[in-house]
Amino acid sequence: MLSVVPAPVIVRAPSKVNLHLAVGDLRPDGYHDLHTVFQALSLYDEVSVVGADKLSVHVSGADAGAVPTDSTNLAWRAAELLAERAGRAPEVAITIAKGIPVAGGMAGGSADAAATLVALDALWGLGASRDELDGFAAQLGSDVPFCLHGGTALGTGRGERLVPVLTRGTFHWVLALAKGGLSTPVVFRELDRLRESGDPHRVGDSDDVLSALASGDPHELAPLLGNDLQAAALSLDPKLRRTLRAGIDAGALAGLVSGSGPTCAFLVADHHAAVTVSAELAGAGVCRTVRVASGPVPGARVVADTDTA
Ligand code: C5P
Repeated sequence: MLSVVPAPVIVRAPSKVNLHLAVGDLRPDGYHDLHTVFQALSLYDEVSVVGADKLSVHVSGADAGAVPTDSTNLAWRAAELLAERAGRAPEVAITIAKGIPVAGGMAGGSADAAATLVALDALWGLGASRDELDGFAAQLGSDVPFCLHGGTALGTGRGERLVPVLTRGTFHWVLALAKGGLSTPVVFRELDRLRESGDPHRVGDSDDVLSALASGDPHELAPLLGNDLQAAALSLDPKLRRTLRAGIDAGALAGLVSGSGPTCAFLVADHHAAVTVSAELAGAGVCRTVRVASGPVPGARVVADTDTA
C-alpha cells in the first residue's frame, strides 16, 4: 500500500521599508495614527507549513536564536486565528527560514504572520477571501496587511488601511543591518518622550513622494524620503548616525532608518550602484552586514505547493 507523506505548502513573504512615515499623536488605544508609504522589498522570509500532531514553530537562518518559537510568535497566532475560522485544531508544523532581519524595522514578524495565513489557507483549502485575510492580518499586527499585499501602498489608521500606489520601474536599495534590534513599542514611546520635551522635526505630507514614485526616478524620490520614527531610533541607538553618514559617503542618493529601526535603508541610482555602495558600506565597519534589495515586489505568495501526490 502507498503511504501518504504529508506535503508542505511553502510561502514567501517580503520585507518592507517605509519610504515616508508620518506619525500622528498617541491614541487612547495606545497606537499612533500613521500616514505612511510602504514599499515591499526583495528580502524575504520563507514559511513552510505541514500537517502535524500539534502546533509548533521552528526557525532557521542567521538570527534564528532571537525569534520566539512559542505562542508569542505572530505565525503561531496566525495559525490559531485561521484554525478558529476553519473550525479545526491548529495541528501544523510551521518552519520559518529568516531572510529578513529580526527586530530590524522591516516587518519580519509581520511577514511570517502574512505568510502563515496564506500557507494555511492553501493547506486547509479554505478559499478565504482577500477581505477576510485582510481582517485576520489587521488583528495580528499593523504591518501584516501590507505584507499580504506587497507592492507600494499608502497606509493609514495604524498602518493597516491600505491603498495601492502607482509606481514606475524598480527602485534599488542597500540595507545596513545592525548588530542588535529595536523594539517597536519602545521606539514609539521614545518619540512620545521626545515630543513632550521638544518638537522633533515632522515629515510633511506625502504628495510629492507619490509623484516621484509615479515618475520612477530615484533622484526625484531621494530628497523626499522621511521617517518621524528616525529621531527616536537615533536617540536610542546613536551609532546609527554613523551608519547613515557612511551610506551617503559610499554614494547612496539618500538614507533613512527603516520603520522603527535599526536597519538603515539607502536608495541608490540603479543595480550597479547598489553593488558598489554595498561593498563600500560593508568595508566601513558601521553595521553587522549589508544586503542589496529592490522593490516593489509582490506580497505573500505560495511558491511551492507540493501536494501533488
Ligand atoms: O501593531 P503592532 O503589534 O505591530 O504594533 C506594535 C506596537 O507598536 C504597538 O503595541 C504600539 O506600541 C506601537 N505602534 C504604535 N502605532 C502604530 C503601530 C504600532 O504606537 N500605528
